Amino acid sequence: MPEKPQTPDEKLQQEFNRWAAEGEGEKMERHHLDITEKTIRLMNLRPGERVLDLGCGSGWATRLLARLVGEGPEGFGQVVGLDVSDEMVRQAREASKDFENILYVWGSAQQIPWEENFFDKVLSVESFYYYPDQDRALMELFRVMAPRGKLFILINLYNDNQYSLQWVDKLKVKVHVRSAAEYVELLQKHAFENVEARRIPDDTPNARARCC
Ligand SMILES: C[S@@+](CC[C@H](N)C(=O)[O-])C[C@H]1O[C@@H](n2cnc3c(N)ncnc32)[C@H](O)[C@@H]1O
Repeated sequence: MPEKPQTPDEKLQQEFNRWAAEGEGEKMERHHLDITEKTIRLMNLRPGERVLDLGCGSGWATRLLARLVGEGPEGFGQVVGLDVSDEMVRQAREASKDFENILYVWGSAQQIPWEENFFDKVLSVESFYYYPDQDRALMELFRVMAPRGKLFILINLYNDNQYSLQWVDKLKVKVHVRSAAEYVELLQKHAFENVEARRIPDDTPNARARCC
């Protein structure tokens, strides 16, 4: 019987549902915490801000963000965690029951189910290289971000990091491998301003032994 092929997002959903079922969501917290905390410091978050965690996985970073934008003199900040894996989203919801300012949404970076001009800041941790159509994802990010909004894309798998390239063939889904300069160019092409690439040192013990 002929079968309808899976879309690229469906393939990602299937693969990351498998990761979630194998407990990878929690392991990623241990692997990504150091670089994520350093990046969150750069985000200069304030109470009242609206933040998107794109490719939020099991939601541990979403919760870090939610604590920083919660109630303050400038209002009650909100964080939206979005992921293509419904199993990651389910785990994230389960672990975030005590948070009133988090909403998890199942969806794709290529079609962000949110209104325009909304988010003050966006964080995406070790997720951007998986997006099948990165141009489309950047168009969507530009649409949902508020004027003067700031985007923080944190990735370890890129062409200038030779060590990370061993993972390209080991992963069961396709990934983009661009250089830092190519990423800067890509963001500029999508009308983002003041684009810069920075190295975030990873002080996690055995950081090189893992990826993504
Ligand atoms: C390596 S994990 C990182 C998860 C989380 N940010 C962390 O650091 O623990 C990559 C995540 O990106 C999500 N993802 C991949 N492609 C996506 C897409 N097209 N749209 C939304 N999320 C996506 C995956 O489901 C997965 O949860």
